Amino acid sequence: MQPRIVVTRRIPDPALELLARAGKMWLSPHDRPLTRTELQRSVSGADALVTLLHDRVDGPLLDAAGPQLRCVANVAVGYDNIDVAAATERGVVVTNTPGVLTDATADLAMALILAVTRRLGDGERLLRARIPWSWHMFFMLGTGLQGKTLGVIGLGAIGQATARRARAFGMNIAYTSRRPAPREVEAELGGARRLPLDELLSTADVVTIHVPLSPNTHHLIDAERLRQMRPEAYLINTARGPIVDERALARALKTQELAGAGLDVFEREPEIDPELLELDNVVLVPHLGSATVETRTAMAVLAAQNVIAVLRRERPPTPINPEVLDPAGAPAPGA
Ligand code: GLV
Repeated sequence: MQPRIVVTRRIPDPALELLARAGKMWLSPHDRPLTRTELQRSVSGADALVTLLHDRVDGPLLDAAGPQLRCVANVAVGYDNIDVAAATERGVVVTNTPGVLTDATADLAMALILAVTRRLGDGERLLRARIPWSWHMFFMLGTGLQGKTLGVIGLGAIGQATARRARAFGMNIAYTSRRPAPREVEAELGGARRLPLDELLSTADVVTIHVPLSPNTHHLIDAERLRQMRPEAYLINTARGPIVDERALARALKTQELAGAGLDVFEREPEIDPELLELDNVVLVPHLGSATVETRTAMAVLAAQNVIAVLRRERPPTPINPEVLDPAGAPAPGA
């Protein structure tokens, strides 16, 4: 019998073609996230699920799929939408799409840094509102980046790629990370310094977030941490919204405790805190980090390759819980 592969929302054609050849594919006909009830119904009997970051995959959903489920392939590098422990307990392999979106996401982080420090949103709004203007020496002045410090929270692949871009703009790099980066990475980044978070926040001119969302990083940047930042500093978030207390950020921006922010992600996507929408010193974009044709295609194809490998009982390229593949090192199902 052909395996049943459920795709919860349209993904690029090259990936759909791979999946359609690998089994009996069901693709959601809706151009929106499936509701919880629709999701539960559609996964029933699936051998593999291809999910997007808005799909919550937890124990009850895995049970709704049934005991034959072998793989959940998330088309995203972040997998905070998936209860990985619940999947591991049920012997289900979870995969994500690291690597292929590193450059696109770092490009967007750098774009946000430039947009907020050079007031591109302000300028756009002024012209589109047809407000009269003329060039003068003090018109819409922003802040230069040369010689300033970029504080990178999380120096993984995307953090490093963002830091490399910032170096090209003349910035110095400081970072926080659970472990020190290899010497050669620090050297390549112009002698990047590892600092405790408090020190990074109180010294950086621009702080950019590149850690995954987990219980440890939820509201990592809260009102108190925002107060540690300098009033001339900027905060950039292209990771996950709930890492920042959005309410506290809106307040800090409103009272100019912080110069500005560039946000690609939000606490309650697709909702945006109404206070943020009123502020001129924040650049807001709708979760576009990986949004290029090339990157989205590569992500979807990688997800399809993960599904195909698991269904063939081969090692998938990018597993999150490889212990499921190697039961010798894994807890027994239900343990
Ligand atoms: C996007 O946010 C991703 O995690 O891939």
